[in-house]
Amino acid sequence: MTKNAGHPAAEPCTGVTVAPAADEITSIKTATGKNASEFRNYTDSALQMRVAAHYRGMRLNQTVDFHKRMEEKYSFAPEKHRAVMSIQEAFQALEKYVDSSDPDIDQPNLTHMLQTAEGIRKAGHPDWMQLVGLLHDMGKIQFLWGDAANGQKGTAHGPQWALGGDTWVVGCAIPSSVVFPEFNALNPDMQDARYKSADGIYEAGCGIENLRWAWGHDEYMYRMLVANKTTLPKAALAMVRFHSAYPWHEKGEYARFMGPGDEVLLHWVRLFNRFDLYTKDEESAVDVEALWPYYQKLIDKYLPPGRLRW
Ligand SMILES: [Fe+2]
Ligand SMILES: [Fe+2]
Repeated sequence: MTKNAGHPAAEPCTGVTVAPAADEITSIKTATGKNASEFRNYTDSALQMRVAAHYRGMRLNQTVDFHKRMEEKYSFAPEKHRAVMSIQEAFQALEKYVDSSDPDIDQPNLTHMLQTAEGIRKAGHPDWMQLVGLLHDMGKIQFLWGDAANGQKGTAHGPQWALGGDTWVVGCAIPSSVVFPEFNALNPDMQDARYKSADGIYEAGCGIENLRWAWGHDEYMYRMLVANKTTLPKAALAMVRFHSAYPWHEKGEYARFMGPGDEVLLHWVRLFNRFDLYTKDEESAVDVEALWPYYQKLIDKYLPPGRLRW
C-alpha cells in the first residue's frame, strides 16, 4: 500500500499487457547520422547556461508541498478544469512554445511531437503509440495558466522548471544519477527528515504509479487524458506520464518501489523514449497539413468526440 492518497486511478484502459521483445528496442539511426552519445549532453552543449539554470530551478522548487499545490491547481474535479479545447486548438496554443530544458532541441514542440509520431509510425509500432508520439509533450500547455513564480512562464526563456526536464520522485532521497546532481543539496526536502531518507514517504513495492514525480508536462498530460476518459492502453499512459523519468527508465533507480506490472511498463517507456529522443535530429520539415487527417483519426479513435477538458 502507498502512503500517499489522492492520485487519480491509473487505469481506465484496456489492452496491452505484453512488453515488446528486447530486439524490438533497436537503436534508432538519426536522419543526419548523429550518434546516440551526442544527445543529452548536460556538460557543454551550446545551450548549457539555459539548461543548467533550468535544473537549478527544478531542484530548488520541486518539493512534496509544491507537488500538492500543483495537484490542486490542475485538478480535473468536476467544473475545475481551466479550458475546453480540441487537440487541434491546443496545438495552436502551443505553437510558439520552445523547451528551455532540452539541450537537443530548439524548435516548436509541435514539430518535435509530429516527428516523434512519424518515427513510431515508420517503425511499424501500434497506432496508439503513434498517438502518444503526437500528444506526449502537450502538457506544456500549462504555460497558459502558469507564471514565473510557479516555474511555468509562457515565454521560451522564462522559468519552466514545472513544465519540462527530467523528473525524479519527490518525497524521498534524490538519486545522484540525476542530471546536475550538484543541485540536489539545494532541494528543501533534502533537509526534511520525512523526505530525505532512501524510502521517504513510500513503501517498498508500492508501485511506480503511486510515487509523486516532480511536476511537469508529463504528470499533467497523464491526468488530462485520464480525466477525459481516453481509451488509450495502460502502456500508452505510462509513456506519457514517465517519459521524462530518466532516473527510472535510464538509470535503473527506484526499482525497490516497483510493483506488479511495472516491469512491462518500463519496457514500453524505454521503447518510446528512443523515438522521443532520436527523432529530434530530423532535417526535413514536417508537413502538418498533410499529416493531420491521419492523426485526427487516431485522436477520434482514442479520445471522446468534441472538445476536451484541459
Ligand atoms: Fe516530454
Ligand atoms: Fe518529447
